[in-house]
Amino acid sequence: MKLLVTGGAGYVGSVVTRLLLDAGHDVVVLDDLRTGHAEALAPEATFVRADIADVAEVLTPDSGFDGVLHFAALIAAGESMVRPELYWTVNTVGSLALLDAARLAGVPRFVFSSTAAVYGNPTESPIRETSTPLPTSTYGATKLAVDLALTSMATAHGLAAVSLRYFNVAGAYLRAPVGERPGVALGERHDPETHLIPIALQVAAGRRDKLQLFGDDYPTDDGTCVRDYIHVEDLARAHLLALAAAKPGAHQVFNLGNGCGFSNLQVVEAVREVTGHPLPVEIAPRRSGDPAALVASAERARADLGWTPAKPALPEIVADAWTFYQEQVLGGAAS
Ligand SMILES: NC(=O)c1ccc[n+]([C@@H]2O[C@H](COP(=O)([O-])OP(=O)(O)OC[C@H]3O[C@@H](n4cnc5c(N)ncnc54)[C@H](O)[C@@H]3O)[C@@H](O)[C@H]2O)c1
Repeated sequence: MKLLVTGGAGYVGSVVTRLLLDAGHDVVVLDDLRTGHAEALAPEATFVRADIADVAEVLTPDSGFDGVLHFAALIAAGESMVRPELYWTVNTVGSLALLDAARLAGVPRFVFSSTAAVYGNPTESPIRETSTPLPTSTYGATKLAVDLALTSMATAHGLAAVSLRYFNVAGAYLRAPVGERPGVALGERHDPETHLIPIALQVAAGRRDKLQLFGDDYPTDDGTCVRDYIHVEDLARAHLLALAAAKPGAHQVFNLGNGCGFSNLQVVEAVREVTGHPLPVEIAPRRSGDPAALVASAERARADLGWTPAKPALPEIVADAWTFYQEQVLGGAAS
């Protein structure tokens, strides 16, 4: 297939691009590099540096795309609470521009990076796709708006749409060089980093003094927030399955997680064990918009997509993130 990947210089989009190319697809990456990294771009993909607001210049009626995979977004829930206008513009207005261009270009398939943040404070755990979404953050709301738009586009225009609601993505895609084939290392490098595991690794590597945990008075076993961590490689494989399973006129929604929650303090312990380094922790006040616990039921993805995670264990996820961090970020300096 000829596929347009928005946000393909980012963490998840770069790994999915790698797998799409390896599966023989023809990929055009559109990214304005506002948070992405040029070195994460796959050399075999065609790269267009542009804002998704201007996507109609690439996604023209004669461009012949068979599908769009839409990752480009702003992703920091905390920032979305203080700069909501930015999040609505990039995440929702930008996605609507992309959907409109896709409709005018007759693109049949659309796979969207949605998020567990659409559920807000869920009323069940693990969370199924039938749970009523009620986001507590602006970020979650901007993503839910796109999910709702996709349902409309599928119903009205026959789009084959899939929303993948990721829980906490972590780990790295690491492939050793084989003969002439170069090695690949794609991992998380947000700046500023807002995700727990990469921040904890920065502390373990001595690049930050301490790790701040936001709140220890949540209604969870140890009072810290509970999240479901999914390896980026497992998540990426689900996108290829979703492309194949997309059905004209239907909008399918799948949660992607491991069905297992870890508290922030449990993650800290896993990072201490994997790295062998001390990890000072400071408890800070709660952050606005943070739900207490988000754990996925991914039964639907398993049943309908045939998706099975290959690396569900937290220590393995942390170990891959640590390998990436040492090799790519520290240049092999830490041990
Ligand atoms: N990382 C996670 O844990 C997580 C969890 C749930 C959902 N998601 C979703 O997955 C997607 C990818 O997340 P990520 O962690 O890879 O983020 P990322 O910041 O690493 O990647 C986003 C990419 O989109 C690009 N981009 C942003 N706005 C753009 C615009 N207006 N025009 C063109 N390019 C633009 C950035 O330059 C970057 O390369 C996002 O849609 C996010 O909401 C991520």
